Amino acid sequence: MHSRLAIILFMLSIFYPSMSKSGLPVTKILYHADKSQETSSRPYNFTPTWKSLDSRPLPEWYDKAKIGIKFAWGVFSVPSFHGEWFWYDWKTYKYPDVVSFMRDNYPPNFTYQDFASDFTAQFYNTSEWVDLIEKYGAKYVVFNGKHHEGYTMYPSKYSFGWNSVDVGSGRDLLGELATELRQRRNDIKFGIYHSWYEFYNPLYLLDKKNGFNTSEFVERKTYPELIEAVMSYKPEIIWSDGDWEAEEGYWKSKEFLAWLYNSSPVKNTVVVNDRWGRGTGCKHGGYFNCQDRYNPGVLQPHKWENVLSVDTISWGYRRNALVQDYHTTQELIMQMVMTVSCGGNFLLNIGPTREGMIPPISQERLVQIGMWLRINGDAIYDTIPWTRAQNDYVSPGVWYTYKPRENKLFAILLETNWPKEGQLVLGSVDSKMMKISSVGIYGVLDKGEKLLAWLPCVEGGGCKDGGIIVTLPNIRPNSRNRLQNSKNK
Ligand SMILES: *[C@@H]1O[C@H](CO)[C@@H](O)[C@H](O)[C@H]1NC(C)=O
Ligand SMILES: *[C@@H]1O[C@H](CO)[C@@H](O)[C@H](O)[C@H]1NC(C)=O
Ligand SMILES: *[C@@H]1O[C@H](CO)[C@@H](O)[C@H](O)[C@H]1NC(C)=O
Repeated sequence: MHSRLAIILFMLSIFYPSMSKSGLPVTKILYHADKSQETSSRPYNFTPTWKSLDSRPLPEWYDKAKIGIKFAWGVFSVPSFHGEWFWYDWKTYKYPDVVSFMRDNYPPNFTYQDFASDFTAQFYNTSEWVDLIEKYGAKYVVFNGKHHEGYTMYPSKYSFGWNSVDVGSGRDLLGELATELRQRRNDIKFGIYHSWYEFYNPLYLLDKKNGFNTSEFVERKTYPELIEAVMSYKPEIIWSDGDWEAEEGYWKSKEFLAWLYNSSPVKNTVVVNDRWGRGTGCKHGGYFNCQDRYNPGVLQPHKWENVLSVDTISWGYRRNALVQDYHTTQELIMQMVMTVSCGGNFLLNIGPTREGMIPPISQERLVQIGMWLRINGDAIYDTIPWTRAQNDYVSPGVWYTYKPRENKLFAILLETNWPKEGQLVLGSVDSKMMKISSVGIYGVLDKGEKLLAWLPCVEGGGCKDGGIIVTLPNIRPNSRNRLQNSKNK
């Protein structure tokens, strides 16, 4: 089965006889992780300033985890048309497709709120969801707590009448998954997506009208609600969003983070992103999301995350999606490999249906990525970037990761770069400075690792001094299963 996936991983085991003597800056640990924090009981004293908050080490688990899954699920999953911005795109932007969808299918007095009673989640089975999360190989989950529509996916006393217990399924959709996941897989972290702003909350609209000189919405709604979510569910990720219309001072996000880091029940392990007010993206917080689908293709100096959706058009489920709207498995694996090689985590978003099902096409993507990871996960989880790789113009299309503990360098060759001559040049390996114990390949012959012959490069001929030339097995992996490899677009 596994060799059907055409992206092949090379594993090079490299042994350094004396790293310090050679003085070679082979890798450096980029992200200061606090190794003691999991058991630490020392008091924290972060102040609500970026200088203080940004000095907090990122809890170590996050960089090791690499692979996450995110669920965009809410009332927008009922129309399941156009996207999760349905309400705003209908009422404010008046997108023609949304306006005619409503005109043709619903009575004129139908409101967005009327969709909520059809958010039944009648097939929502958290045991099946956790099965899928496991098959995919996620190490963390980001579940929608509240999207811009303001509907909370759990009972919140700050969202009376507009939460999943009061209207819709009558269930604590978020809490059920958190419980199931923790019972079965305590090693997979549970996190919450939270939108600061809400499209049409009257308090928010009032504050906005006042140029954000008033803060009724923050004081009475979104801030206490976020505290409530942390206290009730103890999420280990706060995936913040919906921050961009106002400054961080309006949201009180620095106050929130100081509380989260100093005295919340998750202060030792919680990880946050960078969406805390206009202009904070890519600058402040925990790890950086920068923009949606951020994938810079070069090593980043700060821990980051590539969040992308399996449906290229929408985060929420769309019933009228075409197969070509979905990323192929190959595309997703390429994104994942590039991301991890450049120091990022890969967070794949799925849009479940209003009934609580994960669409089979999304299930298939997850299962296939999981098959790849079962063979090649050694080169993904718990690795660090190979910093020398950033200068490798000799072997483009090869993405490196590194495991210092085992002195293993992984070179992941993307299918499109499989050399025709069967000779792969690895320019980021310095065979003069490092002693290479073996070079092997995974996942091609269905028999685990196979050792490969290699030679040091000789100057010239496109092979940089110090690099190595590896002789690949005499197969072209993507010719073995044309069907699986052909793009469905
Ligand atoms: C909408 O109008 C119809 C009559 O045209 C009425 O039967 C229905 O109850 C109304 N629905 C709402 C939600 O007001
Ligand atoms: C959930 O799914 C599992 C596995 O398919 C099944 O055994 C279980 O009975 C289901 N639970 C409910 C409440 O339907
Ligand atoms: C908000 O306060 C600032 C500073 O006091 C003032 O310049 C501005 O006009 C106020 N905006 C509104 C909409 O009241």
